[in-house]
Amino acid sequence: MEKPLQIRILKELMRQIDEKVNVDAGVMYRNPTSVYTCPDVATREWQAFFQDHPQLIALSASLPKPGTFLTVDDFGVPVLATRDPEGRFRAFVNACRHRGVRVAHEERGESGHFMCPFHNWTYSNRGELVGIPQQRHFGAIDKSCHGLLELPAVERDGLLWVHPRVDGTIDLDAQLGGLAPEIASWRFGDDMVFMGETVIDKRLNWKLANDTFGETYHFTRLHKNTLGQIFHGDVLAYEEFGRNHRFVIATRGIDTMREKPEREWDLLEATSPLYYLFPNIQFSFGQNTVSMIKIYPYPGDPGRSVTRVAHYFSRDAVDRAAQANGTSPTITAENTYDPSGFAQQDAVLTLSAFTEVFDSTIEQEDYLMGETTQRSAEAGQLAHVLFGRNEPALHHYHHHFRLALGMSPLEQIPLA
Ligand code: FES
Ligand SMILES: [Fe+2]
Repeated sequence: MEKPLQIRILKELMRQIDEKVNVDAGVMYRNPTSVYTCPDVATREWQAFFQDHPQLIALSASLPKPGTFLTVDDFGVPVLATRDPEGRFRAFVNACRHRGVRVAHEERGESGHFMCPFHNWTYSNRGELVGIPQQRHFGAIDKSCHGLLELPAVERDGLLWVHPRVDGTIDLDAQLGGLAPEIASWRFGDDMVFMGETVIDKRLNWKLANDTFGETYHFTRLHKNTLGQIFHGDVLAYEEFGRNHRFVIATRGIDTMREKPEREWDLLEATSPLYYLFPNIQFSFGQNTVSMIKIYPYPGDPGRSVTRVAHYFSRDAVDRAAQANGTSPTITAENTYDPSGFAQQDAVLTLSAFTEVFDSTIEQEDYLMGETTQRSAEAGQLAHVLFGRNEPALHHYHHHFRLALGMSPLEQIPLA
């Protein structure tokens, strides 16, 4: 990110801290609770946002070298993502062309070939059908027409995108609404290491899960003993980019950084930026970390969702942590980090402690709130909830969810 923009964001946060004000949308809304419970809305969302919409599946670091692969089962179509021998990112429907059986079973790994367990048809990581046992018995078949079905896949600026339909298109410039150059500037493609993923399966609608990332109003209240110790609550530098937004929260580090000359200011030293990428990604990062939060509905059940929190650290941070502990970093063959051998007293950053705090705050604090909202919504007595002037991110994505489904705009509450 350009320095002038970093300075502008930092000054806005300092202004809010000094003036004891928060971001102000200048408007409040009522949000009907039926959007969290209605099976019809859930069906339409699943179709529009997951079955027929490009999906961000991981950082490039999840496929660190040729021959590595991932399987993804979060948005209906089973996906096998590979990095082929030329280093190209590719994605396929994870289904054998003989009788449709799943060909790759592990969540991630390294393999040049995938053999279907049923009759052992075999595919390369370029998707080619390369082996059919007893082909004479089976009959004549043109192998070149029976490779795995390939899905549109784009790797750009360290992010891996897949469209779940073979005839889908991915237009990242349109989708990112002007955020693309800024995302590129953070260089998420550079030398990151995948550290692991936490899966949170809870009784709350996927939008309620998303809502917990939509304001800083709760920081010093709900999170007073966790994140509230690290961050300033009630301040937010917020900007929209089409259906996406940037949401920057100030750490307590901003209080010491402001004493330094402006030319030494660094956004990542004093804040934690978070990008929301429509429809279901919250993407938080710092000097050495990226946490990609992907939130999925549970098909057929509006009252349940699955959140995947994937953590990546810079290789440099992993190396420094290991040196501080007098150990070698435990990087597996797939270039992923094995936290089991990690000692906790790291001078630089307690890497595994970071992921633990991050994940448990989401699960034990934020989502616990959302689960009770879900109960209230399902009970049918609470017709709507309120989004305040200090909660513009909630206005923004609920507005876009509704617009995309052809629903009426949210009802505005008259200001006193
Ligand atoms: S279904 Fe895959 S080999 Fe028969
Ligand atoms: Fe929170």
